[in-house]
Parts: sequence; structure tokens; C-alpha cells
Amino acid sequence: MGETLPRATSAGRVHRTASGRVRIVLPFALATWVLVAALPTPAADPEDVDSRQWVKLPAPMQAHMLANMRDHLVALNDILGAMARGELDAAAEIAESRLGMSALEAHGARHMAPFMPEGMRRAGTAMHKAASRFARKAQEGDPLPAYRALAEVTSACVACHAGYRIR
Ligand code: HEC
Repeated sequence: MGETLPRATSAGRVHRTASGRVRIVLPFALATWVLVAALPTPAADPEDVDSRQWVKLPAPMQAHMLANMRDHLVALNDILGAMARGELDAAAEIAESRLGMSALEAHGARHMAPFMPEGMRRAGTAMHKAASRFARKAQEGDPLPAYRALAEVTSACVACHAGYRIR
């Protein structure tokens, strides 16, 4: 209890000083705001800053693809978890079954392919192949080359995301 009083007093002093500063600083801040607000603002249209190609998919297919995508991220997280525990075989299994060539059918790739432009299809195939390559590397048991192969998987994610959107 003995400490409460001095603390409250000093807080009051700080408060008075701060409000004194506010009286001086506020007009400058307002003037700056008015100046900045008067400057021409860059166009806010997202179309101008987003150069990705918009691929229009039927609604159920769009939902299906986004669900696949969220599972890709979960798979990647599970792979990294397994790698960190030194469980390279487990990492290989996750990669092959959820991202690799074995995952193509489960992802309905055959049904979606006709709706995708050629470049997007190629990016998808590149990712599936990279994941299968990673699985083989991981099975060899040497973490460093496996991580290198995993980076090729994430590069494939990044490449497709940079080029295409579906909404
Ligand atoms: C063939 C192209 C392609 C590949 C390869 C790809 N993605 Fe995607 N991903 C997309 C598109 C297109 C979207 C939707 C972007 C948009 O329109 O907002 C998306 C969205 C996502 C989303 C957001 C899902 C949501 O519900 O909002 C996640 C997460 C994601 N991707 C993860 C990944 C990961 C991880 C990988 C690699 C292992 C990957 N993606 C590989 C094309 C791809």
C-alpha cells in the first residue's frame, strides 16, 4: 500500500506533461494530415496491383480446390514436424500420399485439369512431382538433401500462387 501513493502522483505528473505536449503537437499533426490527405492517392483498385491471372472455376470446384490447398499447408506442416523429429520415413509417407503423384487422384486433378490454363496445370504437375522427389530423397535418410528437395516443393507452391487466382 505504501507504494501506491508515490506511483499515483508520478503518473499524474506524466499525464500533465503529456497533455501539455498534446496541445503543441496536435496542431502540427493535424496540419500534416491535411497535407497528406490532399496529395493524390494511388489507385486502390485491386486489379491494378494484382497481376495474377483470374481462373474462373465452377463454385463447387473452387471450394474443393481451396480445401485441397488448406490440406497442402497442413501436409507441409506435418512434413516439417516429422523432419524436425528426424522421422524422415514418416515425412516421405506424408509427402507422397498427400502432395505427391499418389495424391493426384484424391485431389480430383483429372476433373479440374480441363478448367485450368496450361501454365497452371504445369505448375500443379511440377508440385506433385517435386513432392514425390522429396519423398524419395527423404527415404534415403540424409536430412540436408531432403530439405533441399522440400524447398523445391514450396517453390512450386509459390510459383503457382504468383501466377493464378481463382477468386
Ligand atoms: C497449380 C497451382 C497451385 C499450386 C501448385 C499450389 N497452390 Fe495453393 N492456391 C492456388 C490458388 C489459385 C489459390 C487461391 C488463390 C486465390 O484466388 O485467392 C490457392 C490458395 C491456397 C491457400 C489458401 C486456401 C484458402 O482456403 O484460402 C493455401 C493455404 C494454399 N494455397 C497452400 C498451398 C501450398 C502449401 C502449396 C504447395 C504445397 C500450394 N498451395 C500449391 C494454386 C496453387
